[in-house]
Amino acid sequence: MLFILIMWLSTALRRAEAEGLAQGRYIVLGRCWMCHVAKPVRLGLLRPPKGVKLETEAQIARQAGAILLHVRLTHAMPPANLAMISESERAQIRT
Ligand code: HEC
Repeated sequence: MLFILIMWLSTALRRAEAEGLAQGRYIVLGRCWMCHVAKPVRLGLLRPPKGVKLETEAQIARQAGAILLHVRLTHAMPPANLAMISESERAQIRT
C-alpha cells in the first residue's frame, strides 16, 4: 500500500515538473522568437544575437542558465522589454 502511494506521488511530481517545463518553453518561444531564431523577423537583425537560438527544446535547455540570468535575475532580456513579457511569466521561467 505504502509502495503504491510512493509510486503515485513520484509520478504526480514528475508530471507537475513536466508541465512547468512545458510552460517555460511556451513563454520562451512566445517572447523570444522574434529575435532568437536562425532568421530573426525583428527589423535590423540579420542573425540571432550572440548566436543564441531559442527555437527548439534542446536549444532552450542548453541556454537555461543564461535564460535564468537574463530574464529572471536581471531584466536584460527581452531588451527594453520589447516583447512585453510579464512578471508572472518571468517567475514561471524561473520555476
Ligand atoms: C528585440 C529582440 C530580442 C528579444 C525579443 C530577445 N532578445 Fe535576447 N538578445 C537580443 C540582443 C540584441 C542580444 C545581444 C545583447 C548584447 O550584445 O549584449 C541578446 C542576447 C541574449 C542572450 C545572450 C546574453 C549574453 O550576454 O550572452 C540571451 C541568453 C538572451 N538574449 C535570451 C533571451 C530570452 C530568454 C528572451 C525572451 C525572454 C530574449 N532574449 C528576447 C535581442 C532580443
